[in-house]
Amino acid sequence: MGPVLVLYYSLHGSTRLLANKIAQGIEAEGADAIIRTVPKVSDGFSEKPETIPTEGDMYVTHEDIKHCSGIALGSPTRFGNMSAAMKYFWDSTAPLWLSGELNGKPGCVFTSSSSLHGGQESTLLSMMFPLIHHGMLIVSLPYSVPQLHTTRSGGTPYGPSHVSFGNNEATLSDDESALAIAMGKRLAITAKKLG
Ligand SMILES: Cc1cc2nc3c(=O)[nH]c(=O)nc-3n(C[C@H](O)[C@H](O)[C@H](O)COP(=O)(O)O)c2cc1C
Repeated sequence: MGPVLVLYYSLHGSTRLLANKIAQGIEAEGADAIIRTVPKVSDGFSEKPETIPTEGDMYVTHEDIKHCSGIALGSPTRFGNMSAAMKYFWDSTAPLWLSGELNGKPGCVFTSSSSLHGGQESTLLSMMFPLIHHGMLIVSLPYSVPQLHTTRSGGTPYGPSHVSFGNNEATLSDDESALAIAMGKRLAITAKKLG
């Protein structure tokens, strides 16, 4: 079985924290996890596109997509949607779609937002769209995970999440962390079952 790909974009680090916890859950099930990110895109005003990472995780390649056995896809909430950087990557994947590389593989989604009701669920749904078009099987986060009932910040049945409440230095709450690990485990278990 190929590794499970944890693919995220993060400007301030919150979504990256979730990515790391999901990878922890994947590896707790005995599967390999690889963590990849995507470059910033130019907004036409202030940012220049990067070509190589200056620090942190490697940028994802189409080869990573071809060889993975599942994907956890994460982005900060941007006006209730995934970030342009992540969308830009998915807009490059038509060749992978044509050859059906992801068809039948499991996928899940995760996000971080500043405010509690600031569009996490719409963002999570927006990230499911490319996965669905690629023929992936969406893996939810079930209410049988106890922290989904107790969390006072992030965590949804659509996927794990973090709420920063405007503090970009914040760490994950215990419940957010447990939910991200549970998501990684469920994704790995599903990938193994699908073989
Ligand atoms: C352009 C932009 C749009 C944003 N839109 C939202 C939003 O719709 N709702 C929200 O709660 N937070 C919004 N935020 C805040 C980020 O989602 C939040 O800071 C998130 O935790 C950042 O994740 P990161 O640490 O992985 O970069 C926005 C931030 C930016 C820069």
